[in-house]
Amino acid sequence: MPPDWSNVRADFPILHQNVGRHPLVYLDNGATSQKPRQVIQSLVNYYERDNSNVHRGLHALSMRATDAYEGARGRLAKFINAADPAEIIFTRGTTESINVIARSWAHAHLKPGDVVLTTEIEHHSNLVPWQQAAQASGATLKYVPLLGADGEGGLDLAALDTLLTPQVKLFAFTHMSNTLGTINPVAEFCRRAKAVGAVTVIDAAQSIGHVPLDVRAIDCDFLAFSGHKMCGPTGIGVLYGRRALLEKLAPDETGGGMVVSVTYEGATWKPAPERFEAGTPNVADAIALGVACDYLDSLGREKIAAHDTQLVNLAMEKLSALPGIRIIGPRVGQPRSGLVSFAFEGVHAHDVVTFADQDGVALRGGHHCNQPLMRKLGLTSTTRASFYLYNTPEEIDRLVASLQKIQKFFAG
Ligand code: ALA
Repeated sequence: MPPDWSNVRADFPILHQNVGRHPLVYLDNGATSQKPRQVIQSLVNYYERDNSNVHRGLHALSMRATDAYEGARGRLAKFINAADPAEIIFTRGTTESINVIARSWAHAHLKPGDVVLTTEIEHHSNLVPWQQAAQASGATLKYVPLLGADGEGGLDLAALDTLLTPQVKLFAFTHMSNTLGTINPVAEFCRRAKAVGAVTVIDAAQSIGHVPLDVRAIDCDFLAFSGHKMCGPTGIGVLYGRRALLEKLAPDETGGGMVVSVTYEGATWKPAPERFEAGTPNVADAIALGVACDYLDSLGREKIAAHDTQLVNLAMEKLSALPGIRIIGPRVGQPRSGLVSFAFEGVHAHDVVTFADQDGVALRGGHHCNQPLMRKLGLTSTTRASFYLYNTPEEIDRLVASLQKIQKFFAG
């Protein structure tokens, strides 16, 4: 039985407000999701009862905080079916997670002549760190091309045959594009990368809270995601790393908490995950992220995925019937994640977003941290509507009505 989605809305206090004279329609979930009461309450409970530093104290509060923090690590491991909680490193978010790999792994493994492979649809956070790593090491950065004038063809899987050579040491790709809505066949990418001995890195920022995700079934080496896009707090994220790889990696940041022994001459490191968590960690947000996992699993991630699909199909159908709208990414009927990105003929995306805001509809407009992709598509920006578990078909009607108004206004 699917959850009663109207009851789900009651869990999100922020949704029950007006923007101007209109009830809020929040369709900017690709940028950040809203937080249920359970997650907010977890933060309040922590700061009212348990706040203390972890791994350092022998008093009651420190022990409670440590248990809850390590419990959250275990919860996150279970959420993505990692073999071991030690494979979960808490970071500030997807960007930091990818940077840890780009600094630690790439620094130790890349040399001139090597190739780092990524794709033409990556968010800057899964692109710029690889540019930096390639520049620092003398490796070459290559891209899997995107097909179709509107990016509707997805990544060129046939090109992978020629691109995935034994020179490729690392293949980094997104699970779901934050701009196009393209869903990549991540298990197939990992299988093909493994065949040439390349390490795989998945940017799961847009998929983690939306679909079931199993790192062992996908068989990836690293996976990065943020808490704030999966009903968790901002400022907390995860780097999953296969244990055998993490054990051989040097830390990218050093200091307290990650050392076994320090002398005036040098230091030795704890094993993962502590080796990668120098300093006082973000305890409260890690615990609340564990609560977000409980929340999503109580609804069921398959059911959330089906809800996203229902909403996005409806939006695709209605938006593609509007004149002057160019939808980018998969066509109507093709699989896509729960977002629609479009260019509005004769109206800048920032104007669309500003006008929609006057109707209480929150959208995102801009290049979505995808500047090279925008250039490839001959665009400077798009407007994006991105859906989540609390959105409703009626909210899509509000979006369409607002876009029709904007169209009329600019037609003059
Ligand atoms: N990466 C976020 C987005 O796509 C901020 O909106």
